[in-house]
Amino acid sequence: MHAISNTKSIKYMDIHQKLCEWYRLNQRDLPWRKTSDPYKIWLSEIILQQTRVQQGLPYYIDFITHYPKVEDLAAAPEDEVLRHWQGLGYYSRARNLHRTAKIVVQDHGGKFPDTYQGLLSLKGIGPYTAAAIASFAYGLPHAVVDGNVYRVLSRLYNIDTNILDNKARGIFQSLAEASMHPEEAATFNQAIMEFGALQCLAQQPLCKDCPLQDHCLAHAAHCVHERPVRIKKSERKHRYLHYLFFYNREHTWIQQRQGKDIWHHLWEFPLWEEDSLYEWNELIDRHPEISAYYRQDSVFYPSFDCSHQLTHQQLHARFFPIKIEDDSEALSEHFTKITLAELDTYAFSRLSLKFLEKFNF
Ligand code: ADE
Repeated sequence: MHAISNTKSIKYMDIHQKLCEWYRLNQRDLPWRKTSDPYKIWLSEIILQQTRVQQGLPYYIDFITHYPKVEDLAAAPEDEVLRHWQGLGYYSRARNLHRTAKIVVQDHGGKFPDTYQGLLSLKGIGPYTAAAIASFAYGLPHAVVDGNVYRVLSRLYNIDTNILDNKARGIFQSLAEASMHPEEAATFNQAIMEFGALQCLAQQPLCKDCPLQDHCLAHAAHCVHERPVRIKKSERKHRYLHYLFFYNREHTWIQQRQGKDIWHHLWEFPLWEEDSLYEWNELIDRHPEISAYYRQDSVFYPSFDCSHQLTHQQLHARFFPIKIEDDSEALSEHFTKITLAELDTYAFSRLSLKFLEKFNF
């Protein structure tokens, strides 16, 4: 997440202004942008989920013609609503739409709640739709985060967070809200989505004539096409790391990572990487050389398992704490001997730090 810290050097106001300026010149003329009726805005957003604007537009017009008010939609038979939806696909969306319309009428007197939290509490309205209605209908400063927004922000700020991770939404939501001028939330939200749809395209972004090129960290780092990062769990490489924490009253042994792998130059405990996680006896069977590092009177503490997720890799680590009574020349030959007190002065990966926090020696 190194990229987030870079955001400090960017003037958020510039991004807001440039996006809104671009929007004024390039926006498409779309009917849901000319209304502040929360019902119509909600309808448009549900139709536009997983649907392109050109495909969704006639459906939007058809729906507001047949059901101009939320009461009309709520009162319609489900069959009829589904017939109007025909061709858009994902029919559960139509059923949910109908169900939410009934809730708004029955529980809220036909009025959509006028706060973000109130909207979110409605069945069928998630963070995206709540932010869209809150900003477009009521001018409230909530940022929409959809696929276009992930793409635009991950490029502008060169964010390498996997957008399929649970933590991604919160990160991008904060970034979008930090980038927007709160009094112009509606314009900013429309602008960033439109910018993603027309300029900052997924496959062939129009960087050459992009008004935000000078602000775009991914452009500067030549990685526009690698943003956003989108890696499914099943595509992640799994690695199995066995760390041996040898220590005595005063010392422990560590090594520095070399090569082009993860954690370049960070320090770690002696490591054996395998094709799956092994118990101690299995590890010794596979690596008899380890037995030179301890004696029969060494104390073996229960192993400690720890998982750690990187963008492209899922790490499974098992730490084996082993208290050896004496010094060990064999260890010192292969690893760097340091005092336990010095542990704090070496840079370790987060994974190793998790172990050190848990294990009291
Ligand atoms: N896609 C989702 N919401 C949209 C909106 N309000 N305008 C254009 N495209 C959209």
